Amino acid sequence: MAKIRLPFFNKKNDKELNLLPNGKIPEHVAIIMDGNGRWAKKRGLPRVAGHKQGMDTVKTIVKVANKHKIKVLTLYAFSTENWKRPKSEVDFIMKLPKEFLNTYLPDLMKENVQIRTIGDDGQLPQHTIEAVKYAKERTKGNTGLILNFALNYGSRYEMVEAMKQLVMDVEDQKLQIDDINESLFEDYLYTKNISDPDLLIRTSGEQRLSNFLLWQAAYSEFWFTDVLWPDFSAEKFEEALFDYQNRKRRFGSI
Ligand code: IPE
Ligand code: IPE
Ligand code: MG
Repeated sequence: MAKIRLPFFNKKNDKELNLLPNGKIPEHVAIIMDGNGRWAKKRGLPRVAGHKQGMDTVKTIVKVANKHKIKVLTLYAFSTENWKRPKSEVDFIMKLPKEFLNTYLPDLMKENVQIRTIGDDGQLPQHTIEAVKYAKERTKGNTGLILNFALNYGSRYEMVEAMKQLVMDVEDQKLQIDDINESLFEDYLYTKNISDPDLLIRTSGEQRLSNFLLWQAAYSEFWFTDVLWPDFSAEKFEEALFDYQNRKRRFGSI
């Protein structure tokens, strides 16, 4: 099929985004950044080279998200299941937040980005916890894009923990069973105060959630690409955004 040049891709000026058919930009985009290992393998490199290259993609995508005034960008960086990987790979991945922030924090400050995380950070190595804590602290006053890393995140774990906390609050008589509803349950999730993802992207050709935002993605629009995360580009991201703009979201209505 011939590639259609859409006006959207040529525009530099934010105002011209209105040219999009219905002009809507997802408030919250969540991305399953997958395919780093395969990217490296294709080049005869160790898997970790893919993780390193994937870090640069994060920088590119943050810029695009900022440009289009997306409010929240949640990036799946490490799942609760990823501990099953060889220790050397896990150790390498755990060093990436520090490396990413060492080189990139000044830019994030300039771009007014606020760093947050979701997941069980207590189980991360101390050096990772410290790097992330420092970045959150430094950027907490920023009012632009919320860059939310899912780090040691698992949706089932998140929900079980929420449930445990709810039960404790009932036991402590802070809550009555009848107080529990969807909105209250959401207050017990890591994503409290963050809207549900409007658009959920997964790279690398896999079409599954892999324990990512199971509750929150109930009405997300899904967008899949075969492109491996290290090769994911500003253009691809904008293609996903454009596609989103043409989706009809009904939320069960007609
Ligand atoms: C995604 O890339 C990054 C993490 C899960 C940490 P992968 O490492 O899963 O890459 P593939 O899927 O093996 O190619
Ligand atoms: C999902 O990717 C987790 C992250 C991208 C961090 P995986 O590569 O771990 O998922 P599966 O194993 O293919 O489902
Ligand atoms: Mg993978």
